[in-house]
Amino acid sequence: MTERETARMMTSEEALRAVEARLSVCARWRTTAGQLVAELSEAFAVVAEIRPERFLEIGSELGGSLWVYAAACAPGARLVSLTAPGEDGSVDERLGATAMALARDGFGVEVISGDSHDKATMAAALRALGGPVDVVHVDGDHSHEGVLSDWRAVAPAVRAGGVMLFHDVAGETGAAEAWAEIRACYGRTAKIARGRRERDGARMGIGVVWQPAFGTTEQGQ
Ligand SMILES: C[S@@+](CC[C@H](N)C(=O)[O-])C[C@H]1O[C@@H](n2cnc3c(N)ncnc32)[C@H](O)[C@@H]1O
Repeated sequence: MTERETARMMTSEEALRAVEARLSVCARWRTTAGQLVAELSEAFAVVAEIRPERFLEIGSELGGSLWVYAAACAPGARLVSLTAPGEDGSVDERLGATAMALARDGFGVEVISGDSHDKATMAAALRALGGPVDVVHVDGDHSHEGVLSDWRAVAPAVRAGGVMLFHDVAGETGAAEAWAEIRACYGRTAKIARGRRERDGARMGIGVVWQPAFGTTEQGQ
């Protein structure tokens, strides 16, 4: 059985265990993911099914979700993080530690510090991936127009069968409004929503769309 077939058969229990194990490792350098574990593990199983060789994250903060999703990528995959710098103009040292740990694990990792809405910066991130995007995690500017802008910039670079993940689509947020518009353009979509405001402090939620083959009726726009 190949590694890819093994990944396809990942159960939700296995995905949860993999995510928890991954989070306990990055806690050593004080990194965590800004995600609900129950949602992240469902999204992790989706990504593991793709087994991406080129993974892009828009908005990495401390690097936690990048670190977790990397474990669902192919060995040696190209991982690019495009994330806004902090107030002092540099990326958080914990994201730097995450990138170093990923590089030690054999990934081709690059952190690009900048604004995803800047055309040249986004072009640099896509160039750094070296080919069509297999999976993108959109978790940067959560405003309505911000999410739509990231989607418009990155969607044409995602290969047929690839996946786009949008974080924070479950509450009454700009990201949720954008998600409603984005999902309407795709034939295959899923919404992972396990958060409850009273229990988790936030709704969060992850929207998933699968890129159709261009020219099929599934494209929808
Ligand atoms: C919610 S945090 C990301 C959390 C991270 N994905 C995780 O789960 O561990 C959002 C990040 O996006 C960054 N960000 C906000 N607007 C951005 C933009 N226009 N371009 C790139 N990054 C942006 C913020 O600086 C922050 O690091």
